Amino acid sequence: MKPGAAPEPTLNGETRVYGVLGYPVAHSLSPAMHNAAFRAARLNAIYVPFPVAPERLAEGVRGLCAAGVSGFNVTVPHKSAVLALLDDVLPEARAVGAVNTVRRQAERLVGTNTDGVGFLLSLERDLGFRPADKHVLLLGAGGAARAIAFALLGVGVASLIVANRTLERAKALVAECRTRYPDVKVLAARLDEVAEAAPHLLVNATSLGMGDGRSPLALKPVGVREAVLDIVYHPPETPLLAEARTLSLRGANGLGMLLYQGAAAWQFWTDREAPVDVMRTALAEVLALRGE
Ligand code: ATR
Repeated sequence: MKPGAAPEPTLNGETRVYGVLGYPVAHSLSPAMHNAAFRAARLNAIYVPFPVAPERLAEGVRGLCAAGVSGFNVTVPHKSAVLALLDDVLPEARAVGAVNTVRRQAERLVGTNTDGVGFLLSLERDLGFRPADKHVLLLGAGGAARAIAFALLGVGVASLIVANRTLERAKALVAECRTRYPDVKVLAARLDEVAEAAPHLLVNATSLGMGDGRSPLALKPVGVREAVLDIVYHPPETPLLAEARTLSLRGANGLGMLLYQGAAAWQFWTDREAPVDVMRTALAEVLALRGE
């Protein structure tokens, strides 16, 4: 054991089991983050990966419940499909149409979504950015963009442009946003149509930049005024963030969102304040070990 490190957990008949249900799930950083938190808090609990194929999702969820698992995260590709398998879905997850965290309460499975709160905490703590009354340009219209759009609208942005390669997907997300937030200006655009949008904040919620050396767009013509958040975190400085730096914009990658959604999930399970610094260090260590 490293000096100062928390002791390894003793696994016994009372150990609470948590995990992450995804497919594939072997590369998830969540086990490192959550196990470090359990150790630091001296909780008799462990967090493990559960690879569950899409066609076996219902069986997998029932099995975890029957086996007395205390809670689990849900990741790609199950975040939407899992809703129908839960006993209760909290409003924040219902609104987004996706669940990333489940806890077993008595014999009921209760789902929530901590991606939105994780995103907002990262904005505040990593970028010092408060989105209320600001203009935001969001790139992407997939699952991640959805959670981010509703989080931003929930805290009162002045306007939101959803820009996506496939315009139809952006339009579909914008239509939902307008139904729920009829007083906010929400627009759809194609990814190559946002020159001079001049938002205070640009968020990349596409998968571009994830180890492919590509940027979703050229940043300079957009005229971003304050900050850029890229939900990609591998490499740590994506091409988009590198350009943000040359333009003297504040920038953050997606590691903060991962950390804070994890901290919120941990709190949902344990009803304790999450040891965020321990979790951040665990993430950094596992990424360093993998050479990322
Ligand atoms: P997630 O749930 O992680 O958001 P997703 O639903 O597959 O994943 O969405 C991926 C996002 O990245 C989409 O906005 C997608 O654009 P399309 O809707 O046009 O597919 C975007 N994306 C992925 N590859 C892209 C590429 N090569 N160029 C531009 N956008 C891309």
